[in-house]
Amino acid sequence: MTVSEIKTSGLASKRSEKLGVSGIRLIFENAQRIPDVIRLEFGEPDFDTPQNIKDAAIRAILAGKTKYTSSAGMPELRNAISKKLEQENRIFYDPAKEIIVSAGATSGINLSLLATVDEGDEVLVPNPGWATYVYAVTLVGARPVLYNLDPASGYSFRREIAETLVTKRTKAILINTPSNPMGTVCSKENLQEIAEFAQDHNLMVLSDEVYEKFLYADSRNSDLRHTSIANLPEMKDRTLTINSFSKTYAMTGWRIGYVAANEQIVQALIKILTAANSCISTISQFAALEALNGPQDSIKQMIETYRKRRDLTVSRLNEIQGFSCPMPTGAFYAFPDISRTGLNSFDLAMKILDQAHVATVPGSAFGSLGENHLRIAYANSLENIGLGLDKISKIMN
Ligand SMILES: Cc1ncc(COP(=O)(O)O)c(C=O)c1O
Repeated sequence: MTVSEIKTSGLASKRSEKLGVSGIRLIFENAQRIPDVIRLEFGEPDFDTPQNIKDAAIRAILAGKTKYTSSAGMPELRNAISKKLEQENRIFYDPAKEIIVSAGATSGINLSLLATVDEGDEVLVPNPGWATYVYAVTLVGARPVLYNLDPASGYSFRREIAETLVTKRTKAILINTPSNPMGTVCSKENLQEIAEFAQDHNLMVLSDEVYEKFLYADSRNSDLRHTSIANLPEMKDRTLTINSFSKTYAMTGWRIGYVAANEQIVQALIKILTAANSCISTISQFAALEALNGPQDSIKQMIETYRKRRDLTVSRLNEIQGFSCPMPTGAFYAFPDISRTGLNSFDLAMKILDQAHVATVPGSAFGSLGENHLRIAYANSLENIGLGLDKISKIMN
């Protein structure tokens, strides 16, 4: 029986039927049919997990550390996360009461929504934004309400736009910086506007910071840095800071991340996580502990490599007829405007896949404001990026 037959037979829950199929998955599945496809669609680091992290996991297995841990996560890992948040993000979270370990940021977002939002509540979700936010909000029975970011100012938050969307049911706002799919970084001033908006409407803020390390400062923007909104005055108690080891340490398959929030929310998160997962993989927790406590130089090397890839990606994209690509300053995505090609983003992505054998993601997968764009992930080698963009160039020029 296929998925669509199950759907029509009424066996699956109504909740599951509300979830659409993501545009990324459609491209991904079509790309599987093409043996020589070049993958510029996938938001996954192509680097291997650093050896010291793998060794720590192997040591944990050999030492028999393969049992359940406390639902909130191993105390030593929560201590290390707390230290990291204090030193790097300048927020003190009590490791005993204000941190839980989650199965990556995806589960962190789902748990956070379950802990803060009730059925029928409304959650403000960025447009463009990572498609999973809409699904996650829908899954908890709440209503995703898209707030348009402003393309003219580097996709910044505009209070006057968000203000028109607030109702009595608005409970939370999801934010993501550095952003997927645009590769933009929210300034501290803009975060301050979000903070004031959240305070004025008594909203919780779910802050997805998985790309916090992926920043490309240069002479044009030497003051570029990541700010955690929880660090702004009066914001810690209304923010859930969500982060992950997936991108920073090339650990996507280990499924490990964390949520830091006030004690009351963390108590709720623990109850939900206990019901949903019992706890997170002990082996992955030992790996994450080493990721935080071990040498950090692999991150630096990865970021420098991403920077070279970004530069190549953007300069080559701007040589393609009908494409115009601003320089992203964060994450590992380029988001070229393709409106001058005369095609919509889905048709263009399919054309590029069929004729050039390069997988990209149509911007429409990220909300209505993503239309007229493609998302190109430069989490691939310089060789593959060059080859892929050559092939796109050939069919477009
Ligand atoms: C903005 C954003 N948040 C979260 C995730 C998923 O992170 P994790 O692997 O920790 O679930 C992704 C992955 O693409 C992402 O782009």
